[in-house]
Amino acid sequence: MAIAETMLPPGAIKACIFDAYGTLFDVNAAARALADELGADWQPLAETWRAKQLNYSWLRSLMGGAHVDFWQVTADALDFALDERKLNRPDLRQRLLDLYYNLTCFPEVPDMLRRLKQAGLITGILSNGAPAMLQAACQSSGIADLIDHCISVEDVGIYKPDPRIYRLVTDRLHLPAAAIAFHSSNGWDIHAGKRAGFYAIWINRSGQPAERLPNPPDVVLNSLSDVPSILGAV
Ligand code: LAC
Repeated sequence: MAIAETMLPPGAIKACIFDAYGTLFDVNAAARALADELGADWQPLAETWRAKQLNYSWLRSLMGGAHVDFWQVTADALDFALDERKLNRPDLRQRLLDLYYNLTCFPEVPDMLRRLKQAGLITGILSNGAPAMLQAACQSSGIADLIDHCISVEDVGIYKPDPRIYRLVTDRLHLPAAAIAFHSSNGWDIHAGKRAGFYAIWINRSGQPAERLPNPPDVVLNSLSDVPSILGAV
């Protein structure tokens, strides 16, 4: 499924940048791995964990002077989610955090990255994640060798969608935003990427309705599989 709103001239894109959590890495994989133990709780736990993680990132950014790194935000969000479901067990908390640190990627990711690199495109991550957690997830999902640049918001100390975060990419790659394709499964993130001038590809994995925000994406896909063909990298 591809809805291309903007035609792409051949060779226009030089680099492909990906959001990490939810886009390359399956954020539900940690709670799902303990589904036998958690029973019906695993999915609502995963949903609250993710929702609170994002909420805390936005709220800390807006509060000013309240930044802590994404690993702390992730642990705080998990504590809320466990508390809500009355699952306050330190051993369970630690196992979920260990699983989150070593997440797996979505199945199509390694082959998709390989095809982009074979076509001579630069690859990279732009994420809220702290550098150490991004490196760990790249290693645990076997894609470390397929990522040229791993860019963390920690270089600025504020979270997406602050415009300074997206500028980290153009600064690091020394490329104009129009030469960069940005991919995110998070609707709000893809609108911010488009606003920054990137060619914006929304990976709408769960069939969400369009966000009512300015700067809609150029392309909507339901997984990353079709990215190389959309970018002419075949
Ligand atoms: C990230 C979050 C937004 O990786 O998923 O930046």
